[in-house]
Formats: sequence, structure tokens, C-alpha cells
Amino acid sequence: MKLAIIGAGNVGGALGTAWAQKAGHEIVFGVRDPAAEKTQALVRKIGSKARAGGLAEAAAYSDVIVLTVPWSAAEAAIRSLGDVNGKIILDATNPLAMGPDGLGLEIGHSTSAGEKVQGWAKGASVYKTLNTTGFGNMADPVFHGVKSVMFVAGDDAGNKPKVMTLVGELGFDVVDAGPLRNARLLEAHAMLWIELALKRGLGRDWAFARVTR
Ligand SMILES: NC(=O)c1ccc[n+]([C@@H]2O[C@H](COP(=O)([O-])OP(=O)(O)OC[C@H]3O[C@@H](n4cnc5c(N)ncnc54)[C@H](OP(=O)(O)O)[C@@H]3O)[C@@H](O)[C@H]2O)c1
Repeated sequence: MKLAIIGAGNVGGALGTAWAQKAGHEIVFGVRDPAAEKTQALVRKIGSKARAGGLAEAAAYSDVIVLTVPWSAAEAAIRSLGDVNGKIILDATNPLAMGPDGLGLEIGHSTSAGEKVQGWAKGASVYKTLNTTGFGNMADPVFHGVKSVMFVAGDDAGNKPKVMTLVGELGFDVVDAGPLRNARLLEAHAMLWIELALKRGLGRDWAFARVTR
């Protein structure tokens, strides 16, 4: 499959590498400066399955677009993609902002980053996913043989199995978390991971997993 990864930082780099190497997908990083040495170094590291291009070019080339830019850049990035009618968009952003109590969610009770992205990406099918764990766990989601969990929330039920397969190819235990409005829950869930990882001593090498009876 052709995947456009918008952003080639921590998350974009981890996902592009994993999808190319574990599942053989073709990766095009959609970035502001495709010639930047850090992006070219990433492309070289991944090998023949990866390249870098502009945002609109990457989006036009691909069936699936994965948004991995900072929240503050998300609207501009989506608007730079051009026509996304009929595309699948995986939104990995979290609407983080500094508040009086430190890092927190800028929105969340009455809307979410996922729903905002859907509003900007007219005609696309937006799914909230790949936002509730650290980028290191996206590269390696399996802990001593146990898959960590990853949720997928989105309204387009027809394309959801395809999205869940893509996320599963990374090595996650994938759970359908319902409609896109449940991005509000997933973004809060991400905040819990961030709080525990960065402020409560768990560090980045832990993840949520599902147990059932
Ligand atoms: N870090 C994590 O563990 C983690 C986990 C889950 C979710 N997330 C979410 O994933 C997103 C990315 O996080 P990250 O840690 O990967 O960030 P990062 O390492 O800073 O990478 C961000 C990428 O976005 C690009 N970018 C910035 N502004 C842009 C714009 N206006 N248009 C196009 N591209 C732009 C940057 O490109 P330039 O080099 O051109 O600046 C860079 O490639 C954030 O929303 C974050 O909340 C992060």
C-alpha cells in the first residue's frame, strides 16, 4: 500500500520505518523540506521503500495519509495536502498545549483533535489512532511477547477494517474504539500515558495492554 506520512519526526520516522520494514508498504514522507538532511538520512535508513516529497505530492500519491505533526501545525498541514476527498487519514496528533498546570489538552470536552482534523479534511475518512503510546513503542509494541493495545476511532465503518489491519501490522493488539467523537477519550488516554511516562517515573518503555476474561 502507498502511505503518506505527514511529518518525519519521532512518530513519523518510527511509523514509516516499521510499515516499510514489517509490511513492505511504500512510504512517502510529506514534509516542508524534502531535501533536509535529517529527512534524507531517515529515507536512506529505511531504504528503497521510502522517499520524501512535498505535502500535497505525498497526499496525492497515497491511499492512506498519516498525520504526525505537532498539534499547532495540524490545520496548516491538512490544508497543504490539497484535495483529500476519498482518502483515509490516520490522525496521531494530541492537542497538547501548556496551561497553568503544565502540559495538558487544549480541547477535549466538546470536541477533539480528531474531529477538528475531520472538519479540515473535507471528504476524507479520519481515524484517531496511534496517539496513546510513545514513538518508541510504535517501533516495538510487543513487551515480552505481549502486544500493547492500540485503539482506532472513526466513523467510516467500511474502511475501518483496512485501518485496523494497518495498525495491527505494526504489532499492536488493535481495538475498535467506536466513532470519531471517541477521539476525545483517546486523547485523554494519551495524556495519561504522557503523565505517567514523563512525570510519574514510568519512563517511555511501558504501554497499555488489554486483558480479558
Ligand atoms: N512523540 C511521541 O511519542 C508521540 C506519541 C503519540 C502521539 N504524538 C503526537 O504526534 C505528533 C508528532 O509528534 P513527534 O514527537 O513526532 O514530533 P516531532 O518529532 O517534532 O516531528 C514533527 C514533524 O512535523 C513536521 N512539521 C512541523 N510543523 C509542520 C508544518 N507546519 N507543516 C508540515 N510539517 C510540519 C516537522 O517537520 P520540520 O522538520 O519541517 O519541522 C517534523 O517532521 C504530535 O501531534 C504529538 O502530539 C507523539
